[in-house]
Amino acid sequence: MENTEKYFLKEPRKNACEVDEDGNVLLENIIHLDDNTFPEAKQYFAISWYNKTMMSCIGSHIHDTAEYVGFIGSDAEHPQELYGKVLFWLNGQWITIEKSAIIYIPAGMPHCPYIVQEVEKPILHFSGTPNAHYTMKASIDVIEGVGDVNRFVSYEPRPFMPGKETNPSILRKAVWLDSSIIPGAPYIEFAWFLKPREPKPPTHVHDFDEIVGFIGSDPEEPGDLGATLNFNYDGEVVRTDRSTVVYIPAGTQHCPFHIEDLKRPVLSFSGGDGNRY
Ligand SMILES: [Fe+2]
Ligand SMILES: [Fe+2]
Repeated sequence: MENTEKYFLKEPRKNACEVDEDGNVLLENIIHLDDNTFPEAKQYFAISWYNKTMMSCIGSHIHDTAEYVGFIGSDAEHPQELYGKVLFWLNGQWITIEKSAIIYIPAGMPHCPYIVQEVEKPILHFSGTPNAHYTMKASIDVIEGVGDVNRFVSYEPRPFMPGKETNPSILRKAVWLDSSIIPGAPYIEFAWFLKPREPKPPTHVHDFDEIVGFIGSDPEEPGDLGATLNFNYDGEVVRTDRSTVVYIPAGTQHCPFHIEDLKRPVLSFSGGDGNRY
């Protein structure tokens, strides 16, 4: 494929608005993907580090498409633990999050702000939509009849498929979302690599656009993967030692991938606009 490198995104968003009164940056953007950064993108995805207590700079709003928002603790040995607390406003209710979590926000449901508190260890924060062409509109008009919004939060790691279990000294699953966990939700899942693994999974294609990411675990050096990634993309092996999101248009052959020279844990994820992977 021509210009394979352009499908490997490594740039953060330039103008983070999360700054305190003294000008201290409260979050460190790692990678940002949308149709401005990458014209072919059909998905929006952004991931950052939170190191301190902060409140999101965006007030209550709605989108015309579904969104997911997540918070993951940075201790790869204990991937379900957040080591912090997040209060998240959704449809008129405050959700208290104290474990690694992904919140599914159906189209048209008002959400935000959120408050990150009691940060014992840096927290990874991400958000995404399965559609890059979405609108955002300020709104506090709650949807009637929704009930307890805690049912829109997943704290579950994706179970291994029978016979495909991986040694926990190599890989630990953090949290995932799809329509089998919460009806209507898009697919995304996160796991930590603690040690290199043999090249996997076999080469495959999807009928939806997929994003696959590899994020280093040092919040002081967000762009440093702390390992070397070898990713097979349409028959070509791309090597990088930077935190990277790979954009894979529907029908493009990809994988296996191989992580070598791992100096510290690497967070990996994959997501798509297909509701089931
Ligand atoms: Fe939103
Ligand atoms: Fe895939």
